[in-house]
Amino acid sequence: MEIQTFEHDVLVIGAGGAGMRAAIEAADAGCSVGLVCKSLLGKAHTVMAEGGIAAALGNVDDRDGWKTHFADTMRGGQYVNNSRMAELHAKEAPERVRELEQWGAVFDRTKDGKILQRNFGGHRYPRLAHVGDRTGLEIIRTLQDHSVHKSQVAVYMECCITKLLKDGERVVGALGYYREKGRFVLFKAKAVIIATGGLGKAFEITSNSWEYTGDGYSLAYHAGAELLDMEFIQFHPTGMVWPPSVRGILVTEGVRGEGGVLRNKDGKRFMFDDIPENYRNQTAKDIEEGWRYTQGDKHAMRPPELLTRDHVARCINREVKAGRGSPHGGVYLDISWIKERIPNAREYIKKKLPSMYHQFMELGGIDITTEAMEVGPTTHYTMGGIRVDGDTQMSNVPGLFAAGESAAGLHGANRLGGNSLSDLLVFGKRAGEYAAKYAQQQQPGWIDEAEVKASMDWALHFMDAPKGDENPYKLQQDLQKSMQALVGIVRKEDEMLTALEKIKGYNERALKVAAPANREYNPGWHTCMDLSNLLTVSEALTRCAIERKESRGAQFRDDFPEKSKEFGEVNMIIKKAPDGAMQLRREPIKPLTDELQGVIKEIG
Ligand code: FUM
Repeated sequence: MEIQTFEHDVLVIGAGGAGMRAAIEAADAGCSVGLVCKSLLGKAHTVMAEGGIAAALGNVDDRDGWKTHFADTMRGGQYVNNSRMAELHAKEAPERVRELEQWGAVFDRTKDGKILQRNFGGHRYPRLAHVGDRTGLEIIRTLQDHSVHKSQVAVYMECCITKLLKDGERVVGALGYYREKGRFVLFKAKAVIIATGGLGKAFEITSNSWEYTGDGYSLAYHAGAELLDMEFIQFHPTGMVWPPSVRGILVTEGVRGEGGVLRNKDGKRFMFDDIPENYRNQTAKDIEEGWRYTQGDKHAMRPPELLTRDHVARCINREVKAGRGSPHGGVYLDISWIKERIPNAREYIKKKLPSMYHQFMELGGIDITTEAMEVGPTTHYTMGGIRVDGDTQMSNVPGLFAAGESAAGLHGANRLGGNSLSDLLVFGKRAGEYAAKYAQQQQPGWIDEAEVKASMDWALHFMDAPKGDENPYKLQQDLQKSMQALVGIVRKEDEMLTALEKIKGYNERALKVAAPANREYNPGWHTCMDLSNLLTVSEALTRCAIERKESRGAQFRDDFPEKSKEFGEVNMIIKKAPDGAMQLRREPIKPLTDELQGVIKEIG
């Protein structure tokens, strides 16, 4: 079979913020880089981090610094984070933001011309550098502009990778196909970076778009990489709930950062009902105090709406389940109330939250300057992922690196808002740098043609399968419904065991999915292949969630509602066994260095 072949030093799979930042770094190190995107360049989940990028610049509150950012990230992640990654992230994020500014990102400004920073949940000080509520978009735009001018970077759009290729233990390339024409493409590379983002499409309600089918985790797992803490899936508290066609679309935390409050159908600010012990003395008692906090008063206390996402999502879930929700199964998020505090509230909201204004007006017919929004939790982010070395971002498979949402460790059990954008810049850069160093020490690897042929045959067998056996879309929908209902915000052992049984059944059905048509413009065929990734990651996350018999961060177990010391000391590791079975083991977390322990003691 004829196959187009390209050769690069470094192949980057995924072209969101992490992938583009990695590509820039590897190209600057003198490597030839292939940058593969599943859809069009610039269309990535990075844009869904709307409200800002977290970096301790200290522009709005000069008490901020890397130590407080580190301590907040560890506390938010409930201390199962990779502390080395949390340290590097906190130390390097300010530099990455300034660099982005030099490359042309236009941030909002303080009165004296510095980069403006806003409050977000779990961050002690206003820390999120932002561009209204379009920060991710501005970052993508800037990185895209910066990378496309580099002659060493070749971009392959609408190209989907189906297999990583190895020479012995080492990764030496990848096989893929172009979505448009269905032609296969072979990439030879000395190092490969996975930056494919998350797995939101394993769930029914998600802020992720169609691309996010867990491809990178699954590719890495089948190539022998370890996956870490896959149970930690972030349900962002605020997604749209109405109309049904847009359910799950993100409503930025920036709304709460600018003073938005959550209420139930009785008009009650229910977030006051359940404030975790470790935040109790830091949370505003009245609306006035919370408002002053969001307006930058250093002495005011934070409103409870700015507690961490895991907590806020569970409180919303509780209100809805108790029958105190809004008509369409959410709660109310109201920013319009600030007209009681400032005369130009309408202009203020439209300036600070232009996308939210537009989104609700166009999609829901709601004017957020005068009406409350209806919102509810939406699957947003995977804290778990490919296990990497904190400094180099290399996985346990030589030559295979990961960055951004594909990599695990930084965020622990729960990610603080805005830490995703700084994560992808800090560790995208590191992945690019170390993949380039690695590639420069390697000779080209040997590609096993029989393996390539077997992979192409696997892809093509979906064409030959008898018509009507199994519809891939129906199977994906069934999987999403099961994951949402059985491995969602609140989890129980018996339900998750049912989910595992169902996944087993879906795997059997997946053997019969078919998309008999041409290879050209055949999204049904693509879904057949995506399903294999979705099923792999769904099984991994369900197994980890069953094994972690405690509630911590984003994982809430109804049957184990407390944190446990035993589980607070371990990460969950998933690996493919030689016989092909999915193996799970617990691994002790590396203790903090004396310096970092000192920081936690000092900052609290
Ligand atoms: O709410 C938001 O703007 C999302 C930010 C993030 O996920 O980091």
